[in-house]
Amino acid sequence: QQTLYFSRHGESEFNVVGKIGGDAPLSPRGRLYSQCLAKHIHALKIPSLQVWTSTLQRTRATSANIQAPQQHLHELDEIFSGDCEGFTYEDLQEHFPKELALRDKEKLKYRYPRGESYIDVTQRLTPVLTQLECETNVLTVSHQAVLRCILGYFLETPPDEIPYVHVPLHTIIKITLQGFNYNMETVKMPI
Ligand code: F6P
Repeated sequence: QQTLYFSRHGESEFNVVGKIGGDAPLSPRGRLYSQCLAKHIHALKIPSLQVWTSTLQRTRATSANIQAPQQHLHELDEIFSGDCEGFTYEDLQEHFPKELALRDKEKLKYRYPRGESYIDVTQRLTPVLTQLECETNVLTVSHQAVLRCILGYFLETPPDEIPYVHVPLHTIIKITLQGFNYNMETVKMPI
């Protein structure tokens, strides 16, 4: 039996204003989540816990209060939206309406100009997925699109549905895998 924990980073200053991508710091609410997350995880007394985060400051700050070995992996960085980094979806509608329409049509395959698609993200995640397959008691702190790809992989979500998997903020997702069976539990932090 294998147990894996996942969380998005706490709310970032970009989440507050609806901007995509970037490397924004946590908002005050996000910082509160980092404290709640550490408290919750410490209370579980997970043996040999490891924490894997992206290299971006919002995931590193989210896990900073957790007492466990930490690795910061580029593979876990959020989908790179290229020329659209730092835009809100409303800005995109105004400046790149055709791009947004293409994305709505085929979100899995759609690649941002000079950026990535969900398929690109899944491909660059391969080494991490292979490693996670053999691990237990790892907490992965990453981002919405990346966690959709990782959860989609473990839960065998049909590929076209992966870009729409619900991964809320401030929620810890626990997956227990045993052979071909899995069980998923979510705990929403009260903030
Ligand atoms: O809005 C937060 C965020 O993590 C962005 O940085 C990222 O581009 C987006 O979510 C991914 O979600 P979607 O593919 O639905 O736009």
